[in-house]
Amino acid sequence: MNVLLNELHAYHHEVAGKINRIKALLKKLKYESASGDDCKLLFKMLESLHGETEQHHHENEELIRRALLTTEAPIHPRVKDIERDHEAFGRIAGQLKMLEDSTQETSAIVAAVDNFIMKYYNHMEAEENIFFPMADKWLSDIQWNEIKCHWH
Ligand SMILES: [Fe+2]
Repeated sequence: MNVLLNELHAYHHEVAGKINRIKALLKKLKYESASGDDCKLLFKMLESLHGETEQHHHENEELIRRALLTTEAPIHPRVKDIERDHEAFGRIAGQLKMLEDSTQETSAIVAAVDNFIMKYYNHMEAEENIFFPMADKWLSDIQWNEIKCHWH
């Protein structure tokens, strides 16, 4: 697979590891008596998923997605959803951050984070199984070089 796609893949792997740690924490918040520190840790971990690295990752994927649209590749509906997902994750990050300062019940926080994780898994799955293989198949060396010029 193309070296840039491998880089995106490796980032997904890293994020999946973080999400697993977030899930363990959610379980604690759901079924055990969690402390305020656990909640703080949860938001800290979520924040690490919404930083500059994440933003750059999405921008890199957008470079590839836009290049793919210029090819003859039959565009799968889930590839079209990717741009919408990237925009949505920005909004969700803001909403989760707002939850931190709110007086919401733990159950509402857990539900919101669970929902985010489900969306994120779904998104990564579509990228890895549909979007990346399509890009690998259809983009030319010239296009990859062009993408590389704008890569973060
Ligand atoms: Fe991604």
